[in-house]
Amino acid sequence: MKIAITGASGMLGTALIDELSRNHDIYATGRNKGIERGNVYWECFDLLNFDRLQWWLLDISPNVVIHCAAMVNVDQCEIEAGKAYELHMETTKIISSFLKSSGGYMIYISTDSVFDGKKELAYLENDLVNPLNVYAKSKLAGESIVLIDGTGIVLRTNIIGWSRSDNRCSFPEWILRSLIQGEKLKLFYDVYFSPLHVSDLSKIISILINKKLCGLYNISSDFGISKYDFGLLIANVFDLASYNIKKTSIDDMDLAAPRPHNMILSNQKISKELGLKFGTPKDSIITLKQQYDSGWLSRIKMRSMQPAYNFWK
Ligand SMILES: NC(=O)c1ccc[n+]([C@@H]2O[C@H](COP(=O)([O-])OP(=O)(O)OC[C@H]3O[C@@H](n4cnc5c(N)ncnc54)[C@H](OP(=O)(O)O)[C@@H]3O)[C@@H](O)[C@H]2O)c1
Repeated sequence: MKIAITGASGMLGTALIDELSRNHDIYATGRNKGIERGNVYWECFDLLNFDRLQWWLLDISPNVVIHCAAMVNVDQCEIEAGKAYELHMETTKIISSFLKSSGGYMIYISTDSVFDGKKELAYLENDLVNPLNVYAKSKLAGESIVLIDGTGIVLRTNIIGWSRSDNRCSFPEWILRSLIQGEKLKLFYDVYFSPLHVSDLSKIISILINKKLCGLYNISSDFGISKYDFGLLIANVFDLASYNIKKTSIDDMDLAAPRPHNMILSNQKISKELGLKFGTPKDSIITLKQQYDSGWLSRIKMRSMQPAYNFWK
């Protein structure tokens, strides 16, 4: 199959290429180039160049498009709201409309932050959305297009993994770097999430591509955890001292974008549909460590690792 991936140079895009290029031809795009394989065809451009996006789709005529590209800096979305809507909504319109006419399948990667976070239990797909910031509102606008067009599946998720680019730093990488460099870090005890490892998400996406499941699905780890406890778990799994991790409340922060307290997703619907069991947040962290130990990260970065990462070796 011909699979097109937007945001292919990002954290999820990299894991997707690694997984899907084993069985499919991959047409990858980002503003910058990511990992290379024999059957991965890169075209780098800004997706906000809508004509270029149309041309790229027409030229490839993909069977599947996985739309991962996003402005994941939530505060930046608040400042550049127009750009956030263009990237999350307008590009989705173009891709979805193309796939509607070609009969292709869309996988739209959404977010766990479309809720206001006031619910005490894990969020279900049919819970009322109430996005608090531009990032979540614009991602939700993209969701609606795919669901109304009926062109594929919307996956609400929260993900962790290694970044391929040294200019990016994922949440667990930031925690690890701080712990390794002996810096104090403050983590929210009152923000809860249910993160899934990007490689696990990529394996599930591989199944979805064959099943062509449509509609709205949560996809997350089992159980939720606070960001503070997640930091402690990272220290535990990587065998690092945790005394530099301090508790703080999100309500004490002066952030440009308001954020929900509870972002825990229930994965029951997709779990039942695919007959799959999902791991815990700790399992996702163990996968991170295994990827480092097995040399996966060096392979993804296409060079040997920075000395700082050798701390626990
Ligand atoms: N990371 C999380 O915690 C999290 C949580 C929930 C949901 N999600 C969703 O998961 C998806 C993947 O996230 P991620 O963590 O992999 O993000 P990421 O590492 O920040 O990667 C973002 C990707 O989008 C591309 N991109 C951004 N603006 C672009 C533009 N104007 N034109 C072309 N490409 C552009 C980037 O390209 P360049 O490399 O060239 O800049 C990069 O490839 C996103 O849809 C996000 O909303 C992420």
